[in-house]
Amino acid sequence: GQKRMKYSRPRGTRDILGNDMEVWKRVEKQLAAIMEGYGYHEIRTPIFEESDLFIRSVGETSDIVSKEMYTFSDRKGRSLTLRPENTAPVMRAYLENGLQREGGITKFYYIGPMFRYDKPQAGRYRQFHQIGAEAIGSSNPVVDAEIIDISIRLHREIGLDSLTVRLNSVGCLECRNSFLGILRKELELHRDQLCEDCKIRAEANPLRVLDCKNCVDLRVELPVITDYICDRCREHFDTLTGILQGMNIDYELDPYLVRGLDYYTRTAYEIIHSELGAQNALCGGGRYDGLAEELGGGSIPAVGFSAGLERMVEVLDQSRLRSGTGPVRVYFVVFNSACSVPAMLMAGELRENGVESSVDLSLRNVKKQLRTASREGYDYAVFMGDNELEAKEAVVKDLKQGTQENVSFERISEYFDKEGVEEVD
Ligand code: HAM
Repeated sequence: GQKRMKYSRPRGTRDILGNDMEVWKRVEKQLAAIMEGYGYHEIRTPIFEESDLFIRSVGETSDIVSKEMYTFSDRKGRSLTLRPENTAPVMRAYLENGLQREGGITKFYYIGPMFRYDKPQAGRYRQFHQIGAEAIGSSNPVVDAEIIDISIRLHREIGLDSLTVRLNSVGCLECRNSFLGILRKELELHRDQLCEDCKIRAEANPLRVLDCKNCVDLRVELPVITDYICDRCREHFDTLTGILQGMNIDYELDPYLVRGLDYYTRTAYEIIHSELGAQNALCGGGRYDGLAEELGGGSIPAVGFSAGLERMVEVLDQSRLRSGTGPVRVYFVVFNSACSVPAMLMAGELRENGVESSVDLSLRNVKKQLRTASREGYDYAVFMGDNELEAKEAVVKDLKQGTQENVSFERISEYFDKEGVEEVD
């Protein structure tokens, strides 16, 4: 009998292939184009970084650092971590490459895998992908508005609506500290009502109690951070909401939104989608004016967001994926092995002219080869048999129309030299 496969994917990871891969590529391409359209440039940082980078930035008591990091030592005993997020790496790269000397606002975007030892469930994986943007170098609330605007555009572009923007201000390092004192005292009074996790959080990271799903009932009795933020944070927040209204961007104020990463100052926001259930955040972000300093740089304000690609792809309305014109795609049906090389040479010639050509080297019967060509959505099949080689004339079948004609080898490049065909979804 057949041998049993010994290996399977690590828990919480996925293979992307087949039609899913096509969807992913198209989504990634469209989203990257939007980023470029706003003047953001791609940055690629390493998949792993010094563990300390995340401990310092995301925060020792955060869920991410305390229980979700993939940390390992290399052969020299250095502690490294697969990136659980990319804001800290981007800021590290900004500082390390001396970009603050250029002044102005540096605008980066990225797309790629992140790793968190999360409990796998719908919309939650251990390797997942984010697209994100970071605007570094300005404290102006207009930049917060641009970031929020981009993140909404990304979701709209791929056909997602019923989006809600939830917005809050978590204050700056000073005003937050005084709020934390008040919150701690208040939590002490309600200690019996806290869930087990929050009993610990109440001391170590009291803000996190505010967005705990188990402790929602208690929230109404707790102080609200926006009542305690300082005048400058208040002004920043009011200016931002004014700009959003001016840009016709709807939002809901959510005084309990605090985000799971410690680097946030002032603006914190999420975009949620009604269909996503418990894991309903498509995207999250905010301002992190203290991060550069925390990493040993100067005082450099910044704001950004990241969106989870798995969640976007799960809810996206595929019928609304914009179809464009793609290259002509040709499939060479090869009758026997003597015809393989001539087919490959001709396919090479077509590729030079921008035609996508694939040669079937399976030596299966013609019918099976044609079935593959149709299933994979090729526009044309070119038959390559002994007769065709002898006559120096190929039989070309239009797979969409079902029509067929003879085209001499000399004319074949010219024959496919068309503007491109409509892509059908
Ligand atoms: P985050 O809220 O931790 O923020 O993640 C952003 C998004 O990544 C989430 O809204 C979700 O869509 C996706 N995501 C997170 N964890 C998982 C998971 N285990 N499986 C699938 N998707 C997931 C950040 O990462 C910040 N770096 C955002 C930011 C950028 N703040 C400022 N700049």
